[in-house]
Amino acid sequence: MAPTAAFRVAGLLALASSVRAVPVVSEPTTTFTSEPTNLPSPYAISHHNVTSHGPFTGPPATTTGALSTSVIASSIAPAPPPPQIVAYPADGKLHGDQPMPFTPSGGIGTNGSTPIYKVASDFDYQSLALALYHEWIELDLFHWGLATFSDEEFDAYGINAEDRFLLQHMADQEIGHASVLANMLGPQAPKQCTYNYPVSNVREYIDFNQKLTRWAEAGVYGFLPHLNSGPAAQMLLQSITVEARQQLIFRQFGGQFPMPEWHTPGIPQSWAWTLIAPYISSCPYNQTRMVWQNFPALYILNQPNPARINGSNVWNETTGGWANTLSTKGIPAKDLCVNATDKTLDCSAAISQNRSIPLSYPGRQVFLKWDAPGQLVGPNNSYVTTTNVAQPKFAAWLSQLNVTYSPLLNVSLEDRTAYTFQPNVSTWLGDPAINGTMFIALTDVDLPVTPYNVSMINPHVAALAVYQAG
Ligand SMILES: *[C@@H]1O[C@H](CO)[C@@H](O)[C@H](O)[C@H]1NC(C)=O
Ligand SMILES: *[C@@H]1O[C@H](CO)[C@@H](O)[C@H](O)[C@H]1NC(C)=O
Ligand SMILES: *[C@@H]1O[C@H](CO)[C@@H](O)[C@H](O)[C@H]1NC(C)=O
Ligand SMILES: *[C@@H]1O[C@H](CO)[C@@H](O)[C@H](O)[C@H]1NC(C)=O
Ligand SMILES: *[C@@H]1O[C@H](CO)[C@@H](O)[C@H](O)[C@H]1NC(C)=O
Ligand SMILES: *[C@@H]1O[C@H](CO)[C@@H](O)[C@H](O)[C@H]1NC(C)=O
Ligand SMILES: *[C@@H]1O[C@H](CO)[C@@H](O)[C@H](O)[C@H]1NC(C)=O
Ligand SMILES: *[C@@H]1O[C@H](CO)[C@@H](O)[C@H](O)[C@H]1NC(C)=O
Ligand SMILES: *[C@@H]1O[C@H](CO)[C@@H](O)[C@H](O)[C@H]1NC(C)=O
Ligand SMILES: *[C@@H]1O[C@H](CO)[C@@H](O)[C@H](O)[C@H]1NC(C)=O
Ligand SMILES: *[C@@H]1O[C@H](CO)[C@@H](O)[C@H](O)[C@H]1NC(C)=O
Ligand SMILES: *[C@@H]1O[C@H](CO)[C@@H](O)[C@H](O)[C@H]1NC(C)=O
Repeated sequence: MAPTAAFRVAGLLALASSVRAVPVVSEPTTTFTSEPTNLPSPYAISHHNVTSHGPFTGPPATTTGALSTSVIASSIAPAPPPPQIVAYPADGKLHGDQPMPFTPSGGIGTNGSTPIYKVASDFDYQSLALALYHEWIELDLFHWGLATFSDEEFDAYGINAEDRFLLQHMADQEIGHASVLANMLGPQAPKQCTYNYPVSNVREYIDFNQKLTRWAEAGVYGFLPHLNSGPAAQMLLQSITVEARQQLIFRQFGGQFPMPEWHTPGIPQSWAWTLIAPYISSCPYNQTRMVWQNFPALYILNQPNPARINGSNVWNETTGGWANTLSTKGIPAKDLCVNATDKTLDCSAAISQNRSIPLSYPGRQVFLKWDAPGQLVGPNNSYVTTTNVAQPKFAAWLSQLNVTYSPLLNVSLEDRTAYTFQPNVSTWLGDPAINGTMFIALTDVDLPVTPYNVSMINPHVAALAVYQAG
C-alpha cells in the first residue's frame, strides 16, 4: 500500500465563521490526498546507536599523528588584500552589464554552471570531514543523554517531556546533517566512532552539549567562506544554521541567557578538532585521518560555572581541560541556581533567564594551567598534541568579531601556570565583546588577526580552552 499524506487546511473562512457565529451551510472541502511522487527519497546514511562509551582501552594505534604531505613553510606570509575588492567602488551604482534582468553582475557560481555538491580541494575535504565528526558525535550524544538520565533527573532541571522530545528531535536532525556531509565527501567519509563524555548528571550533560555545539558551530563559521566548493558550502550552511539553534536551546535548557553575544565567533579548524578529539574514543579500522593540529589542553582554573548562583565564585569546577565544562561535584544545594527562590537568581530551563550576577566581567582575574605537548588524544589515542610555542606570553580572547590579547602574568614554565585579566573590549555601543560561550588560546605573540584570517594564529598557539564568559 502506498502511503498517503493528508493536508488539513485550517481555513480562515471557517475561523471567521466561528468567531461571528454565522451558521455554516456546507463545509468547504479542506482535506485532500496527495499521491506520492515516484522520486526516491534521498537515502540517509547508514548509522547505528553507539553502544559502547568510555575511554579508549584498545591496543596502541599503528598510525599516529595528523595526516600530512610536503609542508612548504612553518607559517603563511602575510600578503596585500585582493585588488578587486579594494578597487570596487561601493557607491550603490551598477558597474557592469547585467547577465539577465533584475540580476547584477558578479558573484561566485552565478554564471549558469551546474552545481556539483561535492568537495573540491583538500581544504574542502578536511573541513567537511571535521564537520562530519561533529555531526556524528552529536547524533550519539543527544541520544545518549536521553538513554542515560531518567525522566525525573531531567524534570529536576525543568526539562520536561516535551523538552525531551525536542532533544530527541535534535538527535534525529543529525542524521540529515551527517548524510548531506557524507554524500559530499564520498565513500571514505569518516564513519561513526565511539565516545566518552565528561558528565555525570543532567546539568553537566546540558553544559557539555551547549559548549560542544558552540565549538562545532564556530568551527564551521571559521572555514565556510573559504571553501572552494560553493555548492558544498551551501549545503553545510543549511545544516549549520540548525546547529546554531541547537546551541541556543541547550543554553535555554541550562537556564542561561540564550544568545548574549551579538555575533557568533568563527574558529580555525584545528581548534574545533582540538576540542572534539578528547571525547572520541575509537573509530573504525580505515577511518579517514585528519590534517588538523591538536593543541595541548588549557585549564581555566576559575572557569565560570553557570550552575552556581554566583558563577564567578569558583575554583577548579570543570570536568577537565579543553572544553572546561562545568562540574557540580561538591557544590552545596544552596549555591546552585536551578531552584533559587529569588527569581533574579534562578536558572531552571526557560526561554530566557537574566543572570543578575555576571559569570565573567572586564578585569576578572583568570587563573590558567596548561598541559605540555606530546599527549596522545583522539580516536584510538592516535593523534598527538603539538605546539611550536616555547613560552606563552598572551591570552587570546576569541569572541564575536574579535581576537583581543591580554598579557600573561606570573608565568611559571615549570608548573605551566599563569593568570591574566579579562580585557575590557566592546563590539558596538559598548556591548561587551567578551560574552557567551567563547574561546581562549595561549599564544607567544599578539598577532593581529580578524575573523577571515584567524587561522594565521595557529603557529603561535600553545594551548586552548572554551571560556564561559556569559
Ligand atoms: C536509536 O535509539 C533511539 C532511542 O533513543 C531510537 O529512537 C532510534 O530508532 C535508534 N536508532 C537506530 C538506528 O537504531
Ligand atoms: C562559470 O564559472 C566557473 C568558475 O566558477 C567556470 O569554471 C566555468 O567555466 C564558467 N562557465 C561558463 C559557461 O562561463
Ligand atoms: C528543584 O526543585 C524541585 C521541586 O522542589 C525538585 O523536584 C527538583 O529535584 C529540584 N532540582 C534539583 C536539581 O535539585
Ligand atoms: C552579556 O550580554 C548580556 C545580554 O546583552 C548582558 O545582559 C550581560 O551583562 C553580558 N555579560 C557580560 C559579562 O558582559
Ligand atoms: C580503533 O580501535 C578499535 C577498537 O579496538 C578497532 O576496532 C579499530 O580498528 C581501531 N581503529 C584504528 C583506525 O586503528
Ligand atoms: C580499508 O581500505 C582499503 C582501501 O580503501 C580497502 O581495500 C579495505 O577493504 C578496507 N578495509 C576495511 C576493513 O574496511
Ligand atoms: C560573586 O563572586 C565574586 C568572586 O568571588 C565576588 O567578587 C562577588 O562579590 C560575588 N557577587 C555576589 C553578588 O555575591
Ligand atoms: C581539581 O580537582 C581535581 C578533582 O576534582 C583534582 O584532581 C585536581 O588536582 C584539582 N586541581 C587543582 C589545580 O586544584
Ligand atoms: C533583565 O536584565 C536587564 C538587563 O540587565 C534589565 O534591564 C531587566 O530589568 C532585567 N529584567 C528582569 C525581569 O530581571
Ligand atoms: C570598560 O570600558 C568602558 C568604556 O571604555 C568604561 O565605561 C568601563 O568603566 C570599563 N569597565 C571596566 C571594568 O574597566
Ligand atoms: C606568582 O607565582 C608564585 C610562584 O609561582 C606564587 O608563589 C605567587 O603566589 C604568584 N602570585 C600571584 C599573585 O598569584
Ligand atoms: C577589536 O578589538 C580592538 C582592541 O583589541 C578594538 O580596537 C576593535 O574596535 C575591536 N573590533 C571589533 C569589531 O570589535
